[in-house]
Amino acid sequence: MATRFCWLGHAALLFESDGQRILIDPFLTGNPSAARKADDVEADFILISHGHGDHVGDAVAIAKRTGAVVVANYEIAGWFETQGVAKVHGMQHGGGFTFPFGRVKLTLAFHGSALPDGSNGGNPAGFDLTFADGTRVYDAADTGLFGDMKLIGEGGLDLAILPIGDNYTMGPDDALRAVKFLEPDRVFPIHYDTFPLIAQDAAAWAERVRAETQTRPIVTPPGEWIEL
Ligand code: NI
Ligand code: MN
Repeated sequence: MATRFCWLGHAALLFESDGQRILIDPFLTGNPSAARKADDVEADFILISHGHGDHVGDAVAIAKRTGAVVVANYEIAGWFETQGVAKVHGMQHGGGFTFPFGRVKLTLAFHGSALPDGSNGGNPAGFDLTFADGTRVYDAADTGLFGDMKLIGEGGLDLAILPIGDNYTMGPDDALRAVKFLEPDRVFPIHYDTFPLIAQDAAAWAERVRAETQTRPIVTPPGEWIEL
């Protein structure tokens, strides 16, 4: 089976690959743009990029209900254990691990990572994902632009998922520079329009991507499936 994904709003993403469901940063309750209710999401793995509430979101409840394995940096993985989540897998930046659905490598991200209760959330991460069918995806999660994105793009990316909301993460100008560093086949913008502070014109940004790069932008409202 091919790999497909659905943006659930803000930075929440659901991937399906080879019969496995991989949920990323499931902030659904309290997310005005959420395409699903937390109780309606199924997952085999839950990936958490950093400790902020708009990324940890409903992950504890979903992990307890579904039995999903929570994958995150070592500090966040340990925090999930203290919340009663049975299955966690801690990693660290630059390290990779091959799960049943594919390989996950934690990448650099310039951001914060304090957990909702103030616990130490380690360092924020992005995800370099290589699914079992060979599809390679980079989810930058919350970050500013950094030059090492050029290294992440080496080897070829089928998809880059980039924040464009500005203020807390890259805005449209730096996200366009990120596309030029990464040179992915396709790019999907996230982390915008959830709140007025991060309102952006994604269609206008997509036009700039089309005009200035070889990358194909995909812009959809939350809740639509996209085949890779
Ligand atoms: Ni954040
Ligand atoms: Mn965020």
